[in-house]
This record gives sequence, C-alpha cells and structure tokens, in this order.
Amino acid sequence: MNTPMKTSAKTPLNTRQKHRNFSNSTINITIIDHNDPSSPGPVTVTAKIPTESDESQSVTDPFDPSHVPLNLMTLCQQNSMEIEGACGGELACSTCHVLLEPGGIEKVGGPGEEEEDMLDLAYGLEEGRSRLGCQVRITEKLDGMTIEIPEDPY
Ligand code: FES
Repeated sequence: MNTPMKTSAKTPLNTRQKHRNFSNSTINITIIDHNDPSSPGPVTVTAKIPTESDESQSVTDPFDPSHVPLNLMTLCQQNSMEIEGACGGELACSTCHVLLEPGGIEKVGGPGEEEEDMLDLAYGLEEGRSRLGCQVRITEKLDGMTIEIPEDPY
C-alpha cells in the first residue's frame, strides 16, 4: 500500500512577511527639561536604535559618548539634561522620572508593578504619562515622541 508522501509547506519567499530592520536606524526624540533654567526649550536629539552588540556593551561610564544609550535616562544624561538617575537604572529610586507625551504609554507600554511602586515616590507624577526613564528602552516606538523631565521641587 502506498502512503502519500508528505511535503513540507514552505512559504514562498515573495509572500514572507518582511520585517523592517532598525538595527542601523536612528530616531528623533524631543526632550523638555524643566530642571534646567538655562534650557533653550524643547531640544530634539537623535538616538541610535541599539543593536544586539550595543545591548551587551560593557558600560564603565554611561556618559562616555561611545556608549550607545539603551534607555531614555541615559539618552537624557548624555545630552546634558538634568536627570539624576541615582540608582543607575536598578529600579531602586524615582529620580529618573519622565513624562511621555499623551498617548506615549500606549505606544511603548506602561510601567510594571515594581516600577509603579517606585513611581509612587516620584514628584510630578501624572497618571497615564509617567515612566521611569531607565526602564524605557530606546526603540523605534519612541520616534518623534516628546518627553518631559518634570521639575524637581527640591
Ligand atoms: S535610575 Fe533609579 S529607578 Fe531609574
């Protein structure tokens, strides 16, 4: 008795979904720093979308311009914005608090439970806009977004 031969169902090349490759891409983010009285106002900075090798870079000094910022906090610091980041991105403070533009959280996602707990200690908290800058990865979802560093009342 002959059994039908199984064939593998391969998707033709021309119908495969093409994924946009952001590995060499840059994005623009506008930052408003409310802590710097000499700030010229909104500043648009260009950020590289980190590659896998950037993700595994050894970081001795995040302010070193050769270090590719992986998150909003480091991007702000490298661009001389007044954002403290006291715990160095360990999710143990709220001094990297940023406000995403309205609707920004829908694009990049909201804070997790641990981040929510730290955000409760942040000044200038705004429901639906607040994130800890060290927890917001630099991705294409931030392209064209405006973020604010809220004024530190202390
Ligand atoms: S730097 Fe401390 S939580 Fe982001």
